[in-house]
Amino acid sequence: MMISLIGTGKMGSALVRGWLRAGVRRDQLLLWDKNPLALEPFKNRALLAVSGKEAVDKGEIVVLAVKPKEIIALLKEVGGLLKSKITVSIAAGVPLEELRKTPSIWVRAMPNIACEIGEGFIAICGDEEGLDKVESIFQLIGKVARVEEGLMDAITALSGSGPAFASILMDALADGGVRIGLPKELALQIVTQLFLSTAHLIQSSSLHPLQLKEAVCSPGGTTIAGLQVMERGGIKGILMEGVEKAYIRARELNQIFKGSVKDEDIAG
Ligand SMILES: NC(=O)c1ccc[n+]([C@@H]2O[C@H](COP(=O)([O-])OP(=O)(O)OC[C@H]3O[C@@H](n4cnc5c(N)ncnc54)[C@H](OP(=O)(O)O)[C@@H]3O)[C@@H](O)[C@H]2O)c1
Repeated sequence: MMISLIGTGKMGSALVRGWLRAGVRRDQLLLWDKNPLALEPFKNRALLAVSGKEAVDKGEIVVLAVKPKEIIALLKEVGGLLKSKITVSIAAGVPLEELRKTPSIWVRAMPNIACEIGEGFIAICGDEEGLDKVESIFQLIGKVARVEEGLMDAITALSGSGPAFASILMDALADGGVRIGLPKELALQIVTQLFLSTAHLIQSSSLHPLQLKEAVCSPGGTTIAGLQVMERGGIKGILMEGVEKAYIRARELNQIFKGSVKDEDIAG
């Protein structure tokens, strides 16, 4: 099966690297990007198209990995060739209703950057005829969930943006380590192992995160002393509001895409 991908920027290249890592052959990946520098890293690792039209023409599954605002121009360019293809849009906030104005078998997907190492989370929804094949290619690079389209903006906020949220938490904890005298490199090493092991512990047991927290908090000990300060600062509420704000932004992108509001008209 030939996977064609248009837009080898940050997310598109993470998908390609994930597929290559999972053993997808060079001759099964056809890439196109209007920026030659974005294609450069793949020149010996995948097939490179000379145009978007060539990429679409030769692909069985066509993945559109351009920015939401670039999708319209791309569809003007290649839309006429998509009819018999399974087309996957990974654009945040671009609804199926809009995509379906261009005839194709449409699947909307929300991956995250961890697809690069086969540890992504990918939510998909769309036309039934395309879902099995799209699920099979995304299963190579992460966990796939079929969802109702109504959940996509929330998944964009929690999963698409999630690696940035987790990274800032890691950096903050490591800075705490620096504050008490650890070199940053060592602090980051500790925090990375902390996140990996905590995620594994929660995944491999039936423990709720709060049960794990209880297990670490000895009466009168160090952990509860630290947590008291974090709770006083409202750490949980801030994180919840951050996710909610990302969700609101995903919904705004939806509206901007439909043309019902302009970005500059949205306050904050
Ligand atoms: N970044 C993430 O973590 C993430 C997570 C989930 C979903 N997404 C979605 O993934 C999509 C891509 O995001 P990104 O962060 O990877 O953007 P990006 O880094 O800007 O990559 C997009 C690439 O597509 C190229 N491009 C634009 N229009 C094109 C066209 N008509 N034909 C061929 N190539 C074209 C761009 O070239 P130029 O640079 O020359 O414009 C750029 O190299 C977005 O829709 C986003 O919502 C991203």
